[in-house]
Amino acid sequence: MTVSLLQTIPRPAHSQNAPRARHVRVALAGCGVVGSELARLIDAHAPAIESAQHIRLEVVSVLVRDTLRARSVPVARNRFTNDVPEFLASNADIVVEAIGGLEPAGRIARATLARGGRLVTANKALIADAGDELVALARTNGARIDFEAAVGGGIPIIRSLRNSLRDAPVQRIAAILNGTTNFILTRIEEGASFADALAAAQAAGFAEADPTRDLDGTDSADKLRILAWLAFGLAPRDVDVRCIGVLPDPEALVREAHARGEAVRLVARCERQGARVTASVQPLRVPRGSLFARTIDEQNVISLDLGWNQPIVLSGPGAGGRPTATALLGDLVCS
Ligand SMILES: NC(=O)c1ccc[n+]([C@@H]2O[C@H](COP(=O)([O-])OP(=O)(O)OC[C@H]3O[C@@H](n4cnc5c(N)ncnc54)[C@H](OP(=O)(O)O)[C@@H]3O)[C@@H](O)[C@H]2O)c1
Repeated sequence: MTVSLLQTIPRPAHSQNAPRARHVRVALAGCGVVGSELARLIDAHAPAIESAQHIRLEVVSVLVRDTLRARSVPVARNRFTNDVPEFLASNADIVVEAIGGLEPAGRIARATLARGGRLVTANKALIADAGDELVALARTNGARIDFEAAVGGGIPIIRSLRNSLRDAPVQRIAAILNGTTNFILTRIEEGASFADALAAAQAAGFAEADPTRDLDGTDSADKLRILAWLAFGLAPRDVDVRCIGVLPDPEALVREAHARGEAVRLVARCERQGARVTASVQPLRVPRGSLFARTIDEQNVISLDLGWNQPIVLSGPGAGGRPTATALLGDLVCS
């Protein structure tokens, strides 16, 4: 008689009494660089999430523009729609918004929170425009909004500011917040042309749908507004950011810095002075070997000055499908 190895291993006692996994229905708005990676991550991590968190995630609806496009995601074709009301009618337990821009993302966010649902979003433009309003809407309706992926890609800066550092006396923030621009400046430093560096950033999925928002500093300014809101308490829309990007000639910026033995980085800074908050985004020359010069490719870095001997510094991949989708997944499974 042959006995399979599995039959000889006793089931651990806890598995017999393990709580039944709760079925959590997820509606995913957007199946591009970030959304498609999230769908794959949910599928790949399903067994681990079920055994550790006792929840079984299922993607029940996916909103896209083009329902006919072939996509390598483990979601049945009949779950795709390009109709926002049909998408919202799925009444999923959690809605993930990975479309970007203000509409229809804003409509999806408001409808989800107004019915008391859970929203997870990667959308910095929306949070920079209406984050305080959406958090208030969530509070009024017993809903919940999480947006870890909106700033810093895979760096857990939002949860740090909303939870661990909520009452910490942040005085100043200095950061590199745009992975695309940083990637381009690094590649130009290494000898690439601006056109080739931009094409490589787009091919890697780092660039926004319209890369102008990366290059003119708007994307960094949106993220800085969100950080200033969480650190200093004023509404993100009210944070006045003086914004200069790397256009029109990033190659010249790199050349000028190189001639002085320095590097150039698009630096976002904000500071509280009494009741006033000043904020700026601009290309700055930084010493070689400094923290910012050592931040290369699509990395981001965020330095929080609390008036202590050392700042709190978080750094890591600031763009790309996998890190950003991992931040979304963290929000999905965090209770
Ligand atoms: N890429 C990154 O590295 C990164 C990093 C951090 C945060 N984010 C944020 O993550 C979000 C998604 O970015 P992404 O790079 O994944 O963008 P993307 O590749 O351009 O994907 C956007 C997705 O949204 C869908 N979509 C766009 N407009 C729509 C509309 N009006 N109705 C229905 N569907 C619509 C698109 O549908 P089709 O596929 O049919 O075109 C696509 O599936 C954005 O908020 C972005 O700022 C991205």
